[in-house]
Amino acid sequence: MQTIHGKYAVITGAGRGIGRSTAIALAREGVNVALLGKTIENLQSVQKEIDSYGVQSLAIQMDVKDASNVQSAIQEVLQTFGAVDILINNAGIGAYGKFMELTEDEWDNVYEVNVKGVLRVTQAVLPHMIDRRTGDIINISSTSGLRGTEGSSAYSATKFALHGLTESLMKEMRKHKIRVQSLSPSRVITDFGGGKNRLTDEEAEHFMQAEDVADVIVSKLKLHPRMFVKHSELWATDPQ
Ligand SMILES: NC(=O)c1ccc[n+]([C@@H]2O[C@H](COP(=O)([O-])OP(=O)(O)OC[C@H]3O[C@@H](n4cnc5c(N)ncnc54)[C@H](OP(=O)(O)O)[C@@H]3O)[C@@H](O)[C@H]2O)c1
Repeated sequence: MQTIHGKYAVITGAGRGIGRSTAIALAREGVNVALLGKTIENLQSVQKEIDSYGVQSLAIQMDVKDASNVQSAIQEVLQTFGAVDILINNAGIGAYGKFMELTEDEWDNVYEVNVKGVLRVTQAVLPHMIDRRTGDIINISSTSGLRGTEGSSAYSATKFALHGLTESLMKEMRKHKIRVQSLSPSRVITDFGGGKNRLTDEEAEHFMQAEDVADVIVSKLKLHPRMFVKHSELWATDPQ
């Protein structure tokens, strides 16, 4: 195991859900965190939550659909922190509906965020990681990216694409000592797709929580730099 204390991380979609919990878990480990996402108020509120951990933090509004916005956000991180050791590509949206009812605009929108968003942020960060011959990139995919389910063709297609992107990039980056990996949770109780609204608190307790995913992320980052876990599937033990 290695310590991650003092490293610099970028987390997309850090204002709520899995991104927020990851930011808090990393800050608790002494990692300096750049919180990137669409809603600045959410990012600032996470920034307040991690204040007591004594790490540097940045809250930057960034829409992963906007290429110039992504470039300027990553430039700001690099100028302020001077380094990025860890990139967590977490920002993502759902798109649900029967295949014949989903419009091409809905397909484009979810692809822009879940696939091209990852492409844009990663291309902005990678040259810096390659120069330093170190880095960790964790792409948050989904079990929907491993098997299709009724009513999730568009979302599922983006997460299948993300697995292909991640594995190819992993093979290109190993020689630069950059670890690229993906994490596929099944259902996690966040606001994603209005998830929690359909469950009572008692029911929700049986499913994975955002903090659980954050724990896995931290443990993967702490592995000795000579190895990594290419992909992990996360399941609730007994969702009932
Ligand atoms: N929850 C689950 O059951 C589950 C299961 C498997 C995988 N996942 C994946 O886990 C990731 C996080 O999901 P979550 O459950 O934490 O969902 P969430 O609570 O809805 O959070 C999604 C985050 O993504 C950000 N985001 C969305 N569109 C963006 C854009 N265009 N630019 C920048 N940021 C954007 C949101 O920012 P704002 O706050 O500004 O809207 C928010 O912070 C997603 O990639 C999702 O596909 C979730």
